Amino acid sequence: GMPNQVSVVEVGPRDGLQNEAEPIATAAKLELIDRLGAAGLKRIEAASFVSPKWVPQMADHREVMTGIRRRPGVVYSALTPNLKGLEAALACGVEEVAVFAAASEAFSQKNINCSIAESLDRFAPVIERARESNVRVRGYVSCVLGCPYEGEIEPARVTEVSRALYEMGCYEISLGDTIGVGTPLKAKRLLDAVGRDIPRDKLAAHFHDTYGQALANLYAVLEEGISVIDSAIAGLGGCPYAKGATGNVATEDVIYLLNGLGIDSGVDLDNLAETGVWITQTIGKPNRSKVGVALAAK
Ligand code: HMG
Ligand code: MG
Repeated sequence: GMPNQVSVVEVGPRDGLQNEAEPIATAAKLELIDRLGAAGLKRIEAASFVSPKWVPQMADHREVMTGIRRRPGVVYSALTPNLKGLEAALACGVEEVAVFAAASEAFSQKNINCSIAESLDRFAPVIERARESNVRVRGYVSCVLGCPYEGEIEPARVTEVSRALYEMGCYEISLGDTIGVGTPLKAKRLLDAVGRDIPRDKLAAHFHDTYGQALANLYAVLEEGISVIDSAIAGLGGCPYAKGATGNVATEDVIYLLNGLGIDSGVDLDNLAETGVWITQTIGKPNRSKVGVALAAK
């Protein structure tokens, strides 16, 4: 059945902004992170310790990570694809990091320049070193409901990578519909498969809204016992390796859905919606949250 409470992981400052071509001021990123915390979000993915040649927008990861006005009870996390990234993140006092793998070989190559197996070998020491430092590690799996290069992805392939990350010590596995091609029945079938090997309270849904299915998919996996949802303020984001792919499901839309279901998230929707208007105006992008746009028009 449906959970009573859902933990929303706000990935806007990272997934939402990482593909923006125009440089965004560090101060604006910090204000965004602060506003998201003020709206009641307790988990905020703030930065990405990746190569600035690969993702220029995240080049100010140190300044962002050390500049956050930390709110009690809020966890600010960062992506760390390798030991170099992890060491830099640890030096900034990060409490949680994430490694990111893919269920598709082609996507793994494009995104992190190595095979799935090589990525797992690379993550092993990252996870070990993080855990020595009492830093929690989240594991992402991309392309769980389809790949821009390989098309259909069998649930068994997702299960295999998810289980590997879980057994290596990731405390939570976030299942990414990176290009937003999934539909509710497919999402349910995925959960049936992955949920056999990994407890459902250790799984998160990270859905993009390219085909407008993200909320329907979320409803489907809520029914399957998922209680952690990733989303981005104003539906920001896209995928550099998938033409036309739009952002994560909008946090405002997720909160509206949860409120309607009587599921507690601890987030103040009006406050959040104002931040969605502010950040989209600040970076000159359309607000892709239907709820955010509707509330702003009231
Ligand atoms: P590589 O070129 O194979 O690695 O990249 P390398 O070790 O040969 O290093 C190349 C250069 O990068 C070197 O610099 C390194 O020092 C530097 P040079 O000697 O040429 O001057 N470098 C770094 N610099 C800063 N921080 C680091 C770092 N590592 C190496 N951590 C690598 C491999 C993984 C580094 C690269 O491919 C990369 O950075 N990829 C990042 C891709 C990325 O961030 N993608 C977006 C996030 S994933 C995502 O969005 C999906 C998700 O949201 C889930 C979903 O939606 O499904 C999570
Ligand atoms: Mg994503």
